[in-house]
Amino acid sequence: MAFIALGVTGGIGAYKAVEIARGLQKNGHDVVAVMTRAARRFVGPLTFEAITRREVIIDQWKPGANAGPGSPRGTPAERGGVEHIAIASTIDLLLVAPATANTVAKFTHGLADDFLSALYLATRAPVLIAPAMNSHMFDHPAVAKNLETLMARGVHIVDPGSGYLACGWIGKGRLAEPEEVVAAAEQVLRPGKGSTLAGRRVLITAGPTYEDIDPVRYVGNRSSGRMGYALAAEALRRGAAVTLVTGPSHLQPPHGAEVVKVRSAAAMHEAVMARSADQDVVIMAAAVADYTPAEKAPQKVKKADGSLTITLQRTKDILGDVSRLPSRAQGRPVLVGFAAETENVVEHARLKLQKKNIDLVVANDVSRADAGFDVDTNAVTLVSAEGADELPLQSKSAVAARVLDRVEQVLASPARSVPAKA
Ligand code: CTP
Repeated sequence: MAFIALGVTGGIGAYKAVEIARGLQKNGHDVVAVMTRAARRFVGPLTFEAITRREVIIDQWKPGANAGPGSPRGTPAERGGVEHIAIASTIDLLLVAPATANTVAKFTHGLADDFLSALYLATRAPVLIAPAMNSHMFDHPAVAKNLETLMARGVHIVDPGSGYLACGWIGKGRLAEPEEVVAAAEQVLRPGKGSTLAGRRVLITAGPTYEDIDPVRYVGNRSSGRMGYALAAEALRRGAAVTLVTGPSHLQPPHGAEVVKVRSAAAMHEAVMARSADQDVVIMAAAVADYTPAEKAPQKVKKADGSLTITLQRTKDILGDVSRLPSRAQGRPVLVGFAAETENVVEHARLKLQKKNIDLVVANDVSRADAGFDVDTNAVTLVSAEGADELPLQSKSAVAARVLDRVEQVLASPARSVPAKA
């Protein structure tokens, strides 16, 4: 049983928070509702009070609400603390559903002008938020950036659903369904519960590599790092110890990952090889350059008449070298490669699977505008010895979950399972 503060803010989805409180209680948790002023315009505190059997916290300065599970009532002074501090140190989870754009912004910028925002700053408990707002608000760069910042700080987020919104628009922004929010809360309370990745070591590469021509120019590619970062976040959610080896990317790495920053294919090779023998899983999501300038000019190359020829030489094949590590019986990690193709996607992936002797290829059709490089969505086909599984277009986070489901299957299969690395 956990003690959960359920923050309810002023969105039309506030009525769903009643179901969420009920769901958490059904699972045996003790819930105290914290309502903002705007939330109380949508649902009455009495509704939550009846369900949680606790006084609802609606005012930062009002003494008398319960401070912890089974704690006696009394003034904050009697309990030796200010209310938000007392609650902050006793809860196991702060869950905010719905979280409006305003609350998301307050959390991001550290404002503390009501009980809920002060509680967010004061608690060291994990935080889970379920944003809900109009779809244009959700898509606004300011909101997107705030959510990204919160995520990088370790705040867990339940994505809003798509469909008809209360404002009459159709789009993404509707509060996730109560069961989904309750399931996410359970996962945050017990990360990795039921996952074969819990306690496993997972190394993920992400982003492009930059191959320097001279001190100011390089050969690069359009990879943003999103797919690899999404995989790292999902592996962390499943309780894995994650190392993220990343090429240049403007994204913030997920909280909790060990981050190794590299620039070139050679540096990525070195970083991966130095760590691979200790891994249970290695996922190469990076778009590693296949060629690098044969020589890097020590000074900026000056232009001259005529054309310029740069000789490129092959880089080392990182996946190939990891696959030649001692056999699985002696602990070779489960290996996942990515394939960026513009034609014959599955056929090429099959060849890669055999040629590189790996467990799974995530084949990407980068000729589509809505999949592959520098977009939030991806359409991939998972190709393994068992066959090809074409997934529909979905968010990179959802793709990451499907990829890790397959990795878990490999780890769990009796013929191939290996003990977790210490
Ligand atoms: N990769 C690697 N080391 C390299 C280059 C690529 O480990 N030097 C990895 C990538 O991270 C990716 C996979 O190998 O997981 C891509 O395989 P690769 O054979 O390089 O294929 P592509 O470059 O996509 O395609 P092609 O075979 O057509 O060159």
